[in-house]
Amino acid sequence: MVPDLRPPHERSIINHVVTTLDIIVDLQYGDSGKGKVAHFLCQKKNYTHVIRYNGGGNAGHTIFHKGVKFVTHQVPVGVFFGIKSIVGSGCALDPETFFEEIQMLEKGGISTKGKVFVAKNVHIVTNEHKEEDGRESKVGTTKRGIGPMYRAKYGRTGARAEDVPALKPYLIDLYEEFNSKNKSALVLAEGAQGFGLDIDWGDYPYVTSSHCTAAGALLNGFPPQSVRDVWGVAKAYETYVGAKDFEPKNEPLFEKIRELGQEFGATTGRARQCNWLDLPLLEKAARMNGVTKLVINKIDVLNRAGAWKVREPKDPLGMGGKITAFKKPEQMKAFVRKRLKFIPAKNIFFSESAETV
Ligand code: IMP
Ligand code: MG
Repeated sequence: MVPDLRPPHERSIINHVVTTLDIIVDLQYGDSGKGKVAHFLCQKKNYTHVIRYNGGGNAGHTIFHKGVKFVTHQVPVGVFFGIKSIVGSGCALDPETFFEEIQMLEKGGISTKGKVFVAKNVHIVTNEHKEEDGRESKVGTTKRGIGPMYRAKYGRTGARAEDVPALKPYLIDLYEEFNSKNKSALVLAEGAQGFGLDIDWGDYPYVTSSHCTAAGALLNGFPPQSVRDVWGVAKAYETYVGAKDFEPKNEPLFEKIRELGQEFGATTGRARQCNWLDLPLLEKAARMNGVTKLVINKIDVLNRAGAWKVREPKDPLGMGGKITAFKKPEQMKAFVRKRLKFIPAKNIFFSESAETV
């Protein structure tokens, strides 16, 4: 018998499922602090694997490991703990920057040997993809070749990791790893970007080209019954980088929040546009992703700015509408908890520092 790592009430009715999956999903526009939550969970739970399930070099995860700051783009956070870390089949793998990242980690004292893998069927970003994306300006992409790569993938003209000899030592078959062996696995699936950037549910065309929802994790070959927890991650305010107007004019507080929150892109260095927390979007994202645990980061930034507000936009583009201001953080927390009462209050965490959840 294969041991089921879940407590009895969480066990699947299907007894051939041997993998248990926790998913991390961003409920906004990326940059909500998923890297920190992943880092925290890797310390708390006994994961056997960490897998990135979407996106590629467009992502930037800022991680503080033993007091040292690392910015990763493609390699999952499990590598910091010697956990098998996989670039999943839903990702966009840029071999050039992947090898650079491996080197950066090794230089920083993080051993990658025998720990970092790439799904043999993950698609490859080429120089042509990057050149084409470099000329893009309508969406305001990160210019990492993401759109052109996914177009090639779905147009059935792309190349996969197994076609690149230099990647041979890193290849892994996700079916063999997670479904075929009589061996249980406890997997953390790390998302990139976020719900507001999702190809189907984001504000199209101001989106990325991958599936950023919890469903995107399953596309990497995991049965739906394998899911245990979905960790939704959001910020106490919102940020967005890209070509559309997002930040309301005539609000000097956003300049302050940008500075206090260090809201500059980890990948491109671009200043992130800011806005107050969009509650209907948060609710929609939490419901559609089946969030069971919710982390709302950077309350400390609002505390330092001395302003706590949420908004309920009247149009789908997120502009205008009603803004509710609070005098204290506790009032804002209670308001948010009430709105999201389908998530038990004990499972909603408001984080006040870059190191803790
Ligand atoms: P692309 O993913 O590079 O094609 O960019 C599409 C849109 O998603 C642009 O608005 C990017 O700024 C945004 N984007 C892509 N990746 C990230 C991310 O990791 N954090 C925040 N925004 C992102
Ligand atoms: Mg980021």
